[in-house]
Amino acid sequence: MNIVVGVTGGIAAYKSVHLVRLLIKAGHEVTVIPTEDALRFVGLPTWEAISRHPVTTSVHDDVARVRHVALGQNADLVIVAPATANTIARMTAGIADDLLGTTLLATEAPVLIAPAMHAEMWRHPATQANVATLRSRGVHIVGPAVGELAGGDSGPGRMVEPDDIAEAALALLAGGDLAGVQVAVSAGGTREPIDPVRFLGNRSSGRQGVALAAEAAARGAQVTLVAANISRDVLAAARHPRVEIVPVGSAAELGAAMADAAAAADVVVMAAAVADYRPIEVASHKLTKEGERLSTIELVENPDIVAGLAAARRAGQTIVAFAAETPSADGGEEEMLARARRKQRRKGVDVLVVNEVGWERGFEVADNEVRVIGPDGVVVATASGSKSQVAAEIWNSLLAVRPLL
Ligand code: CTP
Repeated sequence: MNIVVGVTGGIAAYKSVHLVRLLIKAGHEVTVIPTEDALRFVGLPTWEAISRHPVTTSVHDDVARVRHVALGQNADLVIVAPATANTIARMTAGIADDLLGTTLLATEAPVLIAPAMHAEMWRHPATQANVATLRSRGVHIVGPAVGELAGGDSGPGRMVEPDDIAEAALALLAGGDLAGVQVAVSAGGTREPIDPVRFLGNRSSGRQGVALAAEAAARGAQVTLVAANISRDVLAAARHPRVEIVPVGSAAELGAAMADAAAAADVVVMAAAVADYRPIEVASHKLTKEGERLSTIELVENPDIVAGLAAARRAGQTIVAFAAETPSADGGEEEMLARARRKQRRKGVDVLVVNEVGWERGFEVADNEVRVIGPDGVVVATASGSKSQVAAEIWNSLLAVRPLL
């Protein structure tokens, strides 16, 4: 296939050399189109040598073959990596005063961009609005990752690694139905420390959230899995080149990790069992019978993480919560669904997955049964079976109720 790799003026440009190599190694023809600024970071001879094609930034070269539109027309995929804040703004406005600009306007191929900039620039409303516009036009966005940035700062803004961009690109070419979708999933159960050796926890194994992450990655999505106290065995199912695992302990840690992951996500899935309360005080040493005695623990309420993420949601972002419910003896099924709908409205989430639990059901077991409540309160799917079968059904229903791409 013909892939165009646009390179724009950020320090991450050097990483795109490796990206081009990976794409060629995978058997594709790659044409590199740098911007003038990008050439300050990596020079033209490098791009020509690595891609084995002539490289120019200008619309005035090779005019006879109408290169400024031909490259875009013939491309099966256009990647922009790194995509700077400036490039993203130019793409949004449709500015075409260089070869990359004209190529992006002339192409009907899928476009995948890998943003790279400082965290402040990424979070700026102008950039966020531009990204939302590009998304609404069907541009696929991978990243940015959270991590160390040029100059020693850290936060969301780092270009995702070339291997991950290549993975997303190849998934797009292969046509997975979640290709290019960025997903943040929380899974597991939080532990609220009492002292250095004790905690308040719950019985969630993390299996359903892990299955959701694995299924999304298999279907082409780029996934951040925020994993709260999940055993190695369970977590092993999520090992995939497109899954980044962020281990956390307490609700506060999970909240911070999800806020970071949600900044770049198209879909946020809160499958973790979050403790509603935490001890007001955490002892710095182990409490003993001789000392303070642990007969009462005073608790304070934790913030509702998913409600916070829903309140801060970007245009086009889909927020999914889970509700573990036990049907009441008298009201039964309908009463349970009514309670779930109230929870959906209270938390302000788009989709609520209701998970029926009891002593024998839901937690710690391999099989599961769920109902998916869509944005207007209607049950859009019922799924049962293994947690991976349920995960596949949940993604099917998410694709049906919300355009994710
Ligand atoms: N959740 C959250 N933050 C919390 C508690 C829960 O984000 N502090 C999320 C869970 O990850 C899940 C959803 O909210 O996606 C439902 O949690 P649930 O415990 O059922 O809701 P509560 O608001 O705690 O309601 P209740 O316990 O009264 O049923």
